[in-house]
Amino acid sequence: MSDDSADPRASGPDPGPDPPRRGSATDPLGLDVERFRELAHGLVDRVADHWCQIDGLPVVQQADEASLAALSGPVPREPGALDELIETLAVHALPNMQRAAHPRYFARVPSPASLSGVLGDWLGVGFNAIAASWAGGSGPSQLELVVIGWLAELIGLPPETEGVLVSGGSLGNVTALAAARAAGYDGRVFVSDQTHSSVLRGLRLLGYDREQVVCVPTGPDHRWEVGAVRRAVAETDRGRSIVIGTAGFTNTGGIDPLETLGELCAELDLWFHVDVAYGAPAALSPSGGASLAGIERADSLTLDPHKWLFQPYDLGCVLVRRPGALEACYSMNPEYLRDVSASAEHEVDLRNRGLELSRRARAIKLWLTLAGHGSRQIGAAIERSIRLAETVERRLAADPAWEVVTPAQLGVITFADRRLGDAEHAARARRITESGYAAVSCTELGGRTVYRLCLINPLTTLDDVEATIRRLG
Ligand SMILES: Cc1ncc(COP(=O)(O)O)c(C=O)c1O
Repeated sequence: MSDDSADPRASGPDPGPDPPRRGSATDPLGLDVERFRELAHGLVDRVADHWCQIDGLPVVQQADEASLAALSGPVPREPGALDELIETLAVHALPNMQRAAHPRYFARVPSPASLSGVLGDWLGVGFNAIAASWAGGSGPSQLELVVIGWLAELIGLPPETEGVLVSGGSLGNVTALAAARAAGYDGRVFVSDQTHSSVLRGLRLLGYDREQVVCVPTGPDHRWEVGAVRRAVAETDRGRSIVIGTAGFTNTGGIDPLETLGELCAELDLWFHVDVAYGAPAALSPSGGASLAGIERADSLTLDPHKWLFQPYDLGCVLVRRPGALEACYSMNPEYLRDVSASAEHEVDLRNRGLELSRRARAIKLWLTLAGHGSRQIGAAIERSIRLAETVERRLAADPAWEVVTPAQLGVITFADRRLGDAEHAARARRITESGYAAVSCTELGGRTVYRLCLINPLTTLDDVEATIRRLG
């Protein structure tokens, strides 16, 4: 036994009250589980009410000063009343944002999240589910492997495809590109003027300099012409360089010629990465599937279920057709993780397929949505949006006041008001967004500022779109 009087800790600060007794049905901070149950039921009601009311809420809402002030204040030193604090969040924080699941949210890329996705996410958070290692989370890890397999099959990639879930497209692209480089494709990278900015940022972070990133110009429809890519590729790129195609340009919804690009990459041994962040789920629908033909040639691709696969933020996915390529880039096996390292063939430590070690079990929500609705029902919802955008294109084309700038592609259409100068487009888009009626963004194409609608929410009706266009006119 040590002598207490010689232990400096014996005269140290009072350690405070005893912790809650185990089995006393409290959380580590002493919140009673029955109180939690009551508060949680209240949250469910709030969220369900929100869904019932969303149609009548502003599509985007900016906070007033009083709301923001209610969220700040000195560091809370003493306990507060959770029910009142939840009310503060519900009144002052959550209303003040874009509602990306609103049927008239047409800006950038909406996130028409499903309730099954919400349920799955709640479940995962409630159980604090982790998918870092097999030994520390074989259930969640298996779910992730299963949804990766389902996604690969739905998109048409071969069974050996591997993958990992990440937070979104930005992380997905950089995760795949680092793996490509680690696999020996450490030469140049070919991009286009439609390549998403997150890819370019990712390349900068990976240390690529300006000379290594080659922007191959696109044709008049903003797609690559394969001949132009072929001419840009040098003999020294063979077996070393990466070509980044896009299926679902953020600007226009257009798609690079995947089939011929894939052939070119196979012929010259180039790594073919395809950014399909928003467009990939179109593969589940009859017409979208046809337009994505050739996607199966990708060596790696990025897709975002939090866009068109009806998942709440955040959820992105990387798929890689070359087995082992992710692990070759990301594996780590330090002494303090060895007890949770995979030991059998079918076991996968997902921490070794990307940059995250502690990582939440993002697969739960997607598993529940895919299993709960089935790919046919989801594909039909996607098809509806593709068709809606085509109908909108026809209506605009039939009205001499409007010019269709790029046709409906994967739910995106761009157009201009012939009666207005370009500068006025941005002002009107801002005005309608500020009014709360609809969120509309503009983009730039060929030096022009044009309206752009992204119609990927199956709850959007033709009336919603026509009323929005009338208000823009
Ligand atoms: C084609 C494309 N790639 C990447 C991204 C980035 O995705 P995230 O916002 O999930 O990081 C987007 C976002 O809209 C996109 O449209």
